Amino acid sequence: MTLRRFRPYFRYLRAVRGPVTAAVVYGLLFGATSGLGLPTLIKYVFPPIFDHSGPPMAMATVVLVAASVPMLFLLRAVASYLNSYYVQLAGVRILEAIRLDYFGKLQLLPLSFLQRRSAGDLLSRGLADTAQLQFTLTLMANDGVKQPMALLGALGFLVWQAFTTDGALLVLVCLAVVPLAVLPVHYVGKKIVKRAEQMQSQLGDVTTHFAENLSAAREVRAFGLEQRETDRFAAATRGLVLAQMKIVKYAQALTPAIEILSALGIGTTLVFAHRSGVKWETFISIITALYLCYEPIKKIGYLNSELNRGAASLDRLEVILHEPLSITDPAAPVPVGRLRGEIAFEGVSFSYNGDPPALRGVSAVIPAGTVCALVGPSGAGKSTFANLVPRFYEVGTGRLTLDGIDVRAMRLADLRRNIALVSQEPVLFNDTIYNNLLLGLAGATHDQVMAAAVDAHADDFIRTLPRGYDTIVGERGALLSGGQKQRVAIARAFLRQAPILILDEATSSLDSESEAAVQDALRKLLVGRTVLIIAHRFSTIRDASRILVFDKGAIVAQGNHASLYAGNALYRSLYDRQSATP
Ligand SMILES: Nc1ncnc2c1ncn2[C@@H]1O[C@H](COP(=O)(O)OP(=O)(O)O)[C@@H](O)[C@H]1O
Ligand SMILES: [Mg+2]
Repeated sequence: MTLRRFRPYFRYLRAVRGPVTAAVVYGLLFGATSGLGLPTLIKYVFPPIFDHSGPPMAMATVVLVAASVPMLFLLRAVASYLNSYYVQLAGVRILEAIRLDYFGKLQLLPLSFLQRRSAGDLLSRGLADTAQLQFTLTLMANDGVKQPMALLGALGFLVWQAFTTDGALLVLVCLAVVPLAVLPVHYVGKKIVKRAEQMQSQLGDVTTHFAENLSAAREVRAFGLEQRETDRFAAATRGLVLAQMKIVKYAQALTPAIEILSALGIGTTLVFAHRSGVKWETFISIITALYLCYEPIKKIGYLNSELNRGAASLDRLEVILHEPLSITDPAAPVPVGRLRGEIAFEGVSFSYNGDPPALRGVSAVIPAGTVCALVGPSGAGKSTFANLVPRFYEVGTGRLTLDGIDVRAMRLADLRRNIALVSQEPVLFNDTIYNNLLLGLAGATHDQVMAAAVDAHADDFIRTLPRGYDTIVGERGALLSGGQKQRVAIARAFLRQAPILILDEATSSLDSESEAAVQDALRKLLVGRTVLIIAHRFSTIRDASRILVFDKGAIVAQGNHASLYAGNALYRSLYDRQSATP
């Protein structure tokens, strides 16, 4: 049954033991007052009011009897309120815990896994599916206690009557009909699971569209894609509507189906009531108890369909939560302090998700303190080569060592502390410039931050901004120009003081004025470090003490500029083509 599906997640309930216990206690109270309380009043408390055969009742007694109704409902209402309150409290806590688990997992997953999925899809799982799961878990904690309790209370009353009152036969007939109401519940539940999965995945599509559209706001306007985008969004939304309506169709059929069955039960009961000659109050109290049985069954049915929807969301979350972490710390890490910075590739092959290999048996030794340029046509594998060093991806075959230590033998934090990275499109966080710089080195002093900004030629432009270092840079740094972002990123790399520096097209999107400043900043940054530099402009590359020429995933030549220009046709053609265009 579906409930078993959730067992591993009851640990989330355990963390909110207090609220859940309170919810259960008030749920029990609610159940008792609902299922048992009302029929008991009808059968035993009310009748004297209508019995005028004996001496007249004292007014005080009449008032007391009458007051029992609001009293019972007050008790029931308070129990229901407190039950719901504590259930919701537990629910939001659970949601928080699941979201944190999910988010935490996303931080650890390898890049290759995240790149296979769209941000919208990951977002929708993290927001919509966790919300569905929260709803399901709290409903389970809530109606999963309250409703069975109310049902038991009502059934208890019926059984009690069966043994103490004439007309036990009637009661048994009534009881025989009750379980029938469960039939549609079971059938509908099965129908709903599949459709819930469809709906959540449609929701993922809608979110994907949203996220993609917002990130491409400029392209949409530049290419006049407004209508096309709106049409595509409309199609995704329409898909969502259809998926939602399929669920509505089944979920909403449940209540009428159960009500028809219960009406049948009452009809049958009337016939037997007439023939067995039971008392009026007995009959009414039994009908009440019977009615009070159906309500919980209905709710339990709804709970069942929600369990199925929750299970669908859980499946979607588990795709992420259960994804094995392929890039992790080793069990017995080699202690690593500050590396000297020698990089050695030994017959390294690598392929992205089973595609044809991006690197084929690459070997190269880059001595500590060397500036090494990677050159080659687009798609030759230069970025892939550089991205293996911080272990963003795992080498397929072969070995990659730093100072002779396999990168897989180090703790990830130790490895990455020794590497600074500046990429083509540096991403800044939506925070102040100062805090963005500080990311380079946790705990850097104010003076260190300032010195790094000066070295990176960032200080001069930062001071012209209205709020200086306290300027908020916008999402991904959108309020700064490309060159400004680049200089902040370089300052961040300065601050990191890492022995290994990776510059992947760090200057390719700059105008010539910022480029001069950035080049100057870079020259200072290169000193005394092992540098892997990928650049379009050969002005940067010519000075490198070593150049690796990449073609189709292999290193086809290496040496310095003069020897490669003389001896390698690919290098010469790349160089000449670049020099020809001003
Ligand atoms: N994240 C990725 N997923 C799948 N394939 C990729 C990914 N990144 C690069 N590739 C492929 O790997 C090959 C090498 O790419 P890359 O190292 O980026 O080349 P370069 O930096 O030399 O232009 C290319 O064929 C490219 O299509
Ligand atoms: Mg590249």
